[in-house]
Amino acid sequence: MKKILLMGNGAREHVIAETFMRSENGCELGVFAKAVNPGLKALASAYTTGSFTDFTELKAFAKEFEPDFAFIGPDNPIADGAVDALLELGIKSVAPVADLARLESSKSFARDLLKKYEIPGNPEFKVFESEDGIREFMEELGEYVIKADGLQGGKGVKLSGEHLKNFDEGFAYAQECLQADGRVVIEEKFVGQEFSLMSFVSGTDVVDMPTVQDHKRAFEGDTGPNTGGMGTWSDSNHSLPFLQDSDLLAAHEITVKVAAAIREETGKDFCGIMYGGFIAVKNGVRLIEYNARFGDPEAMNVLPLLKTDFVELCEAMINGRLSEIDVEFENKATVVKYVVPEGYPTNSAKGKKIEVGEIPSGVKTYYASVDEREDGLYLSGSRAIAFVGIADSITEAEKLAQSAVGSVTGPVFYRSDIGTADLIQKRLDHMNLLR
Ligand code: GLY
Repeated sequence: MKKILLMGNGAREHVIAETFMRSENGCELGVFAKAVNPGLKALASAYTTGSFTDFTELKAFAKEFEPDFAFIGPDNPIADGAVDALLELGIKSVAPVADLARLESSKSFARDLLKKYEIPGNPEFKVFESEDGIREFMEELGEYVIKADGLQGGKGVKLSGEHLKNFDEGFAYAQECLQADGRVVIEEKFVGQEFSLMSFVSGTDVVDMPTVQDHKRAFEGDTGPNTGGMGTWSDSNHSLPFLQDSDLLAAHEITVKVAAAIREETGKDFCGIMYGGFIAVKNGVRLIEYNARFGDPEAMNVLPLLKTDFVELCEAMINGRLSEIDVEFENKATVVKYVVPEGYPTNSAKGKKIEVGEIPSGVKTYYASVDEREDGLYLSGSRAIAFVGIADSITEAEKLAQSAVGSVTGPVFYRSDIGTADLIQKRLDHMNLLR
């Protein structure tokens, strides 16, 4: 039986753990976490908490647990070198070393890589290391996007006309980014429909997962501040109703080219998940950004549908045999809805009790930022619990997820509109209008 070290403690890691546990030969999980996730803890044979920034405790845990390989879930430890630290002990991971994780941890690295290797999908963009020329470039673009160069928990991107009301606000945010990272990316704003295409990547082998659409804004109708993601949906044909086959092919080709380019650029092979945040626009597909890990919530749409043995799949990625594996997903629709504390993401309720009511069958429950005490579950400040409806149609999957989120009582909220026929029709109408 294989031993796997899993780093992370969110709902994403809960579903990763559950998928490992479905392996035909079973497996033994050692979880290295920042906090106790009750769902994850129930699946682990060893569970410890420690620092995600200094890898001394991670390495001590790894030495004791002696895993066959590791899986690193969250962006920050990947960017800070958790994979490199485990490699010093001879332990390989499904996640990239820090140098390759720059694909996510430096927005300018990703843009420059696409530009240098002439990979399609980039917007018009410039990277600034001082304030000189920022205002002029924003004015030249008219509508623009300002991106902090480094990781900001999905909250570092601000758009003109949405988060930034005028050039003064844009300039002030660019200054903030410069102070934080010494660098800021300013780029053309795309109009279209966003989608997440995550791929298993091993060297230059790329195998796509079903396509998913995320909902970044906190409130109904895509309003309010950006969050880590309030919910997601996917369709039984593994595409989305507003996408054409040519869109998926274009997105796939971009990831294939990026996998080859990053090898050429660094001399190292990427092993892990490349998660392309794409947007379908009037005349094709563009790249918004890459992440070097599973999306959260997106992992919960795809992993429950994975028919292939996940332990075998990860071992094949590590050993450069991904092309030998037949990766299959069930043809089901999924809708994920997160229950989050009141005030999330800026001023989240913490330490407050919540009650989870009756969850219908067909719904999967994944814990994130909750604290399990003797008398029940308490909010610990970020997205709390994700519910996944899985069914033959999006309509049925949405009903299931909605009924589950509605059963939670306490100081929480969720988005009722995710996965509804009305919202999906709006996405479709928008795309039809553009094209
Ligand atoms: N779903 C957004 C993210 O994982 O970054």
